[in-house]
Amino acid sequence: MADELDRPRDDLERHEAEPHLPSSTIWPFAFAAGIALVLIGLIVSWIVAAVGAVLAIVFGFLWIRDATRGVPVAPEPSPTGVTTTDVDLEAAEDEPARYPRSKFLEGATLGIGALIGGVITLPVVGFAIGPAFIDQGYDDVDLGPLANFPEGQFIITTFYSKGDEYGDVGRRTAYIRNNGQVNEVPSFTIISSRCVHLGCPVQPQGPISDEERKTVKAKGGEILLTPTQPSGFGCPCHGGAYDSEGDRTAGPPVRALDRYRYAIVEGNLVLKTPYSVSKVDGSGADAKIHSYKLADPGQHVDGPEQIFYPIID
Ligand code: FES
Repeated sequence: MADELDRPRDDLERHEAEPHLPSSTIWPFAFAAGIALVLIGLIVSWIVAAVGAVLAIVFGFLWIRDATRGVPVAPEPSPTGVTTTDVDLEAAEDEPARYPRSKFLEGATLGIGALIGGVITLPVVGFAIGPAFIDQGYDDVDLGPLANFPEGQFIITTFYSKGDEYGDVGRRTAYIRNNGQVNEVPSFTIISSRCVHLGCPVQPQGPISDEERKTVKAKGGEILLTPTQPSGFGCPCHGGAYDSEGDRTAGPPVRALDRYRYAIVEGNLVLKTPYSVSKVDGSGADAKIHSYKLADPGQHVDGPEQIFYPIID
């Protein structure tokens, strides 16, 4: 009889004496799969990232709930062989809840580990991927009167994208050709010098008239204008080559050179936001430009490869 009475206490002590093994639930794996989906989604699409975040939150909650769930406490046997439950349920309910020390230590370890992991990881992740989600914007740049750009001639135009205040950090170069009038509206081809392989500055392939270089003052700051007659553009870094419309002809670049939108404001040429181009059909004012939102160098904007890049500006 005494042996039977001692059994519940022995079971409880044996349980606490056993090494504490990890939970056998699938929540940790499901939580990890959710985090993996979030990371993949940051690259592939917002929808995948959102689904991953929801899964990670749900499975993380279930994991924590299971990990912190208390072990049932056996009822105290009385000397008469009647358990506390049998004798006085109300008295048992009045006792303070017992919480196993092992569970407390497990929860504390998980919590502190998560805190330390978050403190270390979040700043790194933030600095690594944060800039990709920040709209850095582009200011309009006034390049002065249309007379600065003779018809039919490419002008290497160096300007400050944010005014003079940022110095050379804000210096940009565009290759600008006045295509003449189309339906009495001036037409320009404005090609960015940023190579779409890895971002090196492309150079005009042809004579550059340094002796005709001039510096003009415009609302956008000081502008450097140098006439050139390129047959195309070449990148000195890895041999990327483009024709005179900026269309890729050879080398590692994945698309045509980016272009700038423009407007004519009070007789001045104003540079607006840049955009990306997959390819150009035709030339000059008649060119058909396959345009896309601005993409980073190396990023495909069309075809199946584009799904491997983030859907962000
Ligand atoms: S950066 Fe231009 S070809 Fe590589």
